[in-house]
Order: sequence, then C-alpha cells, then structure tokens
Amino acid sequence: MRFGHFDDERREYVIDRPDTPHPWINYLGTDGLVGIISNTAGGYAFYRDARLRRLTRYRYNDVPTDANGRYVYLRDDAAGTYWSPTWQPTRTDLERYTCRHGLGYTVIGSSRSGIEAETTYLVPVDADVEIWSMRVTNRRSEPARLSLFSAVEFCLWNAYDDATNFQRNLNIGEAEVAGATIVHKSEYRERRNHFATFTCSEPLAGFETQRDAFLGPYRGWSAPAAVERGETSRSIGVGGSPVGVHHVRIELEPGETKHILFVLGYHEDASETLDVAAARRSIGQFLRPEGVEEALKALRERWERRLSCLQIETGDPDVDRMVNTWNAYQCAITFNVSRSASGYESGIGRGIGFRDANQDLLGSVHLLPEEARARILDLASTQLLSGGAFHQYQPLTKRGNDEIGDGFNDDPLWLIAATVAYLKETGDWRILDELVGYGDCSDTIEALHGHLLRAAEYTLRHRGPHRLPLIGRADWNDCLNLNSHSTDPDEPFQTVSLRESDTAESVFIAGLFCLVVADLAEIAERRGETETADRLRAAVDEMRAAIDTHGWDGEWFLRAYDAEGRKVGSQENDEGRIFVEPQGICAMAGIGLEDGRAARALDAVERELATEHGILLVQPAFTTYRPELGEISSYPPGYKENGSVFCHTNPWIAIAECRLRREERAWEAALRINPSRREAISEVHRCEPYVYAQTIVGRDGVDPGRARNSWLTGTAAWAYVAVTQWILGIRPIFDGLLVDPCIPESLSGFRVVRRFRGATYDIRVERAESRVEGGCAVWVDGEPIDGPVLPVFDDGGTHDVRVTLGGGE
Ligand code: BGC
Ligand code: NOJ
Repeated sequence: MRFGHFDDERREYVIDRPDTPHPWINYLGTDGLVGIISNTAGGYAFYRDARLRRLTRYRYNDVPTDANGRYVYLRDDAAGTYWSPTWQPTRTDLERYTCRHGLGYTVIGSSRSGIEAETTYLVPVDADVEIWSMRVTNRRSEPARLSLFSAVEFCLWNAYDDATNFQRNLNIGEAEVAGATIVHKSEYRERRNHFATFTCSEPLAGFETQRDAFLGPYRGWSAPAAVERGETSRSIGVGGSPVGVHHVRIELEPGETKHILFVLGYHEDASETLDVAAARRSIGQFLRPEGVEEALKALRERWERRLSCLQIETGDPDVDRMVNTWNAYQCAITFNVSRSASGYESGIGRGIGFRDANQDLLGSVHLLPEEARARILDLASTQLLSGGAFHQYQPLTKRGNDEIGDGFNDDPLWLIAATVAYLKETGDWRILDELVGYGDCSDTIEALHGHLLRAAEYTLRHRGPHRLPLIGRADWNDCLNLNSHSTDPDEPFQTVSLRESDTAESVFIAGLFCLVVADLAEIAERRGETETADRLRAAVDEMRAAIDTHGWDGEWFLRAYDAEGRKVGSQENDEGRIFVEPQGICAMAGIGLEDGRAARALDAVERELATEHGILLVQPAFTTYRPELGEISSYPPGYKENGSVFCHTNPWIAIAECRLRREERAWEAALRINPSRREAISEVHRCEPYVYAQTIVGRDGVDPGRARNSWLTGTAAWAYVAVTQWILGIRPIFDGLLVDPCIPESLSGFRVVRRFRGATYDIRVERAESRVEGGCAVWVDGEPIDGPVLPVFDDGGTHDVRVTLGGGE
C-alpha cells in the first residue's frame, strides 16, 4: 500500500493522505537556520545547533504524535467553524490534501468547505529565515469572511534546559510586538546576542504571545480558545510560554486568492538595543511574494546545481531516483545535521559524531567539497593527542563531548577514510598540510597528515592478546560493549567500563585498519615519505596476519574476543554466531579474496543473514541479557543491533560482493533496502519511502519489515557509495576516475554524467557482443585509452566516454 508517489520530474515526493504511518519528514535549510517539517507541518526550527539554539518547541514522544508545528488555523468567521489546512493540529476532515516534499521546501495544500489553502514552507539560500507562503482561495459562489491564526511556540533557546528546568524557565520568557512583528527575546542582552522574530506580511487584527492566553487553560493545540472565539487578547508574554500568533482577517470574493506570508527569523545583533526595525528590514524581501518566488527559484537552482554533479540513467526507476535525487539529498542533509535532529533524534543528545560525520562525508564529498574540507579539519581539531577521538561534539562549540568521552576504538580510523575520500574526489593534496590543533591540547598543532598517522598509531598501540585491536568502549557497533558488564539499569552502556580494556578485541577494527591504512600508506608514498609508507604497509600485513590466524572462524570472520578472551560471533556460540560487520569490512579490505575465505564468508551472509527485507546484523539474535556483551543483548530479538536489518551494513556487503565480482548478489544487497523499492509496502515499512532508515525489524521481531529511525543514518552515504562507485563502478581514485562496473544481467548498460575535478564526464556503458580483453574497453572523446582510468582534464569541458563491458566467454 502507498501513501503517495514520486514526482521524479519535480524531484518531489507527493503524499496524498495526511495520516501516514509516521510523520513523514523533510528538512528546510541546511547550515544556518534548519527546520524539520512533517507532512502535516509538524516539527521545529533551530539555528546551527539543535540543542543550544532552538527557535521553536517540539514535543517528542507525546500524543497525539507530531506536535508542535508551523500551524495556521483557518476560521470561517461567518459560520464560526475552524480547521487546520495542514490537517494537524485540529485533524478536521479535508476534502483534498496533498503534501509535496521537495528539496529544501515543502508544500502542503488542502481544501475544505470551498476554501483552498496552499502553504509553501522554505528556508532560502543564505538567509536565516523560515518562510510560510500561504495562498488562500475562495472556491465558493459567495464571498468568504475568514480569519487566519498563525502559531508557533518559542523554545527558550537551550532545548535541554527548556525541557527540564521549569522552575527557572517558566520565569524567563519574554516577547514583544511591534506592528506585525512578534519578537521572542528571552534572555536577550542578559547572556544572548540573538533573538527571533515572527512577522506577517499583513496588518494584524490581533495577536497573542502567551501560550495560555491563546490556548485557554487546559486546552491543546487542536482547539485554541482564541481561534474558537475568533478574537485574540493581545497578550504579552512575560514568563510562562511565549508563543507567536498573528490574527489576520481576510475577505475573499468568489474565485479570489490572497497571498499571505509569515516569516520566522533568527537574528544576531551586536548593538546595544534590540532593533526590531533593522531585523524587519533584513527580512523585508521575504515579505513580498516576488521575493519568495525568487528565493524558491534560487533554492531549486542550488539543489539542481549540486545534484547535477552526478546523474545516472540505468533504466531502473528505484535506483535512478534514489541516486539522482533522494539518496544524494539525504547524504547532504545527514552530512549537515549528523545525528542531531530528526523525528527520532531529539536534537539534544548527540551533536556531531566523529565516526558518523566521517562516514557521512563519503556520500557527500562530491556534492559539498568545500564543506567536506572544513568538516575534516573540524573533526581533526577534536582529535586527541593520543590519536584517539572524542566520540561526539556540539556543532556550535566544536568541543568534544566530555560526557561520552573517548575510547570508541574505531573512531580515529574513520578520519583516515574521510580524508582519503576527499583526496580521491578533489585531488586537493594541500589539505594534508593544513595545521590543526588537538581537542585535549591546544599547544600542539600539527599537519592533518600527522593527525592521520596518529590515528593509525592509536590502533597499533591498543592491541590485545591476539594482536588484534582492542575494542575499547565499542567499535562501529555501539552496542557491542565488551568491557561494560553493566548490571545497573541506570548506567549508560557506552560509558561504563567495569573491566580493564586490555583483552576485548575487535576483528571489525582490524579489517577497518587494513582497509584505510593501505590508503594511508599510499598517501605517504606519494608524499615521498617512503619509510612511513613501508612502516604502514608492514603494519597492515601484520594486522592481516592477525586476522588470518585469530580472526577466521572456519566459515566466516569472527566478530571479536570478549573481556575473558572468549570468541564472539563464532560457530562455537549458541546465539550471536555470525555478525555481518566483519564479513563486509574484511572482504572490502581484500582479506580472503584470493583464498576463497571472502567468498565463503559472503556465502554464509547470504545463507544465515539475508532476508527479503535486507541482511540481518546478527543471527541467532540474543534472547537473554548478557552483561559480557552489553547493550546489544538488551534489545528484543529482531530489533536494532540485536538482529534487525541494520541498513548501514548492507551496502558493505554489496561492495564486498563487487570485490568478488558477484554482480547479482551485489545488486540484490543494494536493492533490498532501497526505500523507493519498498514504497509499495509502505504499510509494512512505515517510514518515508524516499529516504533510508537506520533499521528494519528483522525476522525475529513481531513486525518484520518495519523501518525505524529514518533520515539520519550512515546508510545514506554507504548506499550511495555502493551503488555509484562499486555497482556502477564510477569510482574516484588518486589518479583519476576509475570505470569498473559490476552490474547485473538485467542491466544492458547505463549512463552516468559525473563532474569530477573540473570537468564533466558523460559516460555511456554498454555490453559488448563478444569478449573484451581486460574486462572493458574505454574511449574518451572518440579515442581508445589504455586501461580503465579516465584522465583528469580540469578544463571545464564535457568529455564523452564510451565503455564496452566484458561480453561473453
Ligand atoms: C543505539 C545505537 C547508537 C547508540 C548511540 C544505542 O542505543 O542502539 O544504534 O549508535 O545508542 O549512542
Ligand atoms: C548508530 C550510530 O550513530 C553509529 O555511530 C553506530 O555505528 C551505529 N548506530 C551502530 O551501532
């Protein structure tokens, strides 16, 4: 069952009923003012940091679900009735409803009793305002007398404090009104240089700035007393809960349309007095319909420009629309907000994750190369002198999160992965010489290259009895907590270590080390640092030897050794016998390719872990809590790390299958979790069909196939890399753009238009009728080239590339 459809031409997902199984979310804005918006206008806005600069309130985990939002109530003043044209919060029946989620904007339109309303929500490029552009049309044969009430509830900036410290925050709220501008100025000038405005393009019939006055005592957003009355009380919010409510009266002749604009703005102001007039001037262009049209046009152009750097035509609509639009968009959004704000991430806890941000970069470095460069340097600056890394930091302060601390022993290696991806994409080797400090030592400043070497050395210094890397608090699998041994429900698994951490080892980190340090050695070599290169290569060989001797379990790669030195993810275990992560990462690193172990491990994945909804993380799932394994065994079987389809790992298997040149398997691994392909079972999947979710309930759960935690997941980047770089095989390498397709029989060929290092490559791949030496033959601008690497042109031009693939025996 579907709840909407893709409009590929407009790059929109069109939802045609409001009661989707979950709020289906979109993002407005990317770097300054950012908002999450659901298909019924729920959600909130923040400026750069969802915890410290929250503009509006949202109530997670409340009922009815998905409150608050960006609400406008329509009231028929003659009849005294009212409704929400976005369905929430009144949930009055609508005669027609559509929500179009586009790239950086959302349009929600509906009609009821002959009144049509359509609101476009957007955050323009380079302006910290959120625009609600609303058109109201009278389709009746009579004139209509209507009232509009806009409504936002302001957050007192620090979202954590706002949700916890009521003894204080019920006394600090402050709002004022100047003309049609409502100003939220809590704490302004005490400790803040910022305030928010909420402005309307029309003269006001009234306003409210105090929530209780607007809603009335003991009432909710579905029936505000002021809307019911048709009259506001012009409340001034001091203390309590400041809100922004404009009351606008309009009269519409039959067929007439009125365009009304509401603009929420974030302002920083260094002057002594709060200058509302200046703030209003700064947003003036968005209080005119033409200004909004231009902003929307510029927004569309920005995304078109970004997305045009990689467009594909495979003929498979699910693959094409994900790569061309939605997966790329999700990569960019995830890159920007990391794991901080979504329908499932409250914007309070996690900020930017070290491991997460580095992996997110893999899918967006071609879209946002400058931002990627800055992000790598930011991440490096939170690294610790030991080579380790703070697990998380707040985007605004860029300070490592002390509460979580460090000791997630895979973290530092991901910085190498991200830098390698950046170098391969851009060829900008100067980044390696950028000087960056350390998170725990402001005196030491070192070139990025030095940071990367320290990351590698960190792993080498932290090895256990089998010479495999120590896992520390956890590796990629945050819930495999081998040193935690927690039996107290009030301890967070990932920060409690009751054992000394010199025994528990991770085969996953070993594989990751081999994967990324091989590239680091290559970088050192190219920088003329031969000794370093040799040392790194020797370290990789040693790590491979440790995996060969202690990391192979007979049919698949072992997962780990626990704090007692017992095997985890082994045939010896009764539960948790096989984990997907080491199978993917070891094969990606080329371990066992020659001697058949990689193939056997991936056969085991197919046999033991593959299901119709995707590849499971672990089997058999744990049925009892095991303190020696930690959080993983606290989840019910089939959920999250305990045996769901943890989507992030599925593209690893697709890439690993490509390394074995098993095209059909690679394709299947990528397609099973493709959200567009799952659109037809939206009633089972339940999350948005246009973005990847973190997990899909596994076969041991009660509702297999149900997705959770959509939007902010490393799945986005890895799915994108797997499909574009490994299956289609258009892959940046240090020397240029490699053409190495690994496509299934069902594809007769494909086209990729790819911008790369200053030129555009228009690549058409076809199958040969007869066998081609060396796998494929490549022509560039009509001339055959030697080998599969497209040269770097950097000439601003477009180059025609023809590729003939393989052929028969
Ligand atoms: C989740 C993990 C997540 C971790 C982050 C755990 O509860 O299961 O997926 O990585 O929290 O802190
Ligand atoms: C989500 C976290 O954000 C990520 O860092 C981790 O690797 C996965 N969960 C797996 O536990």
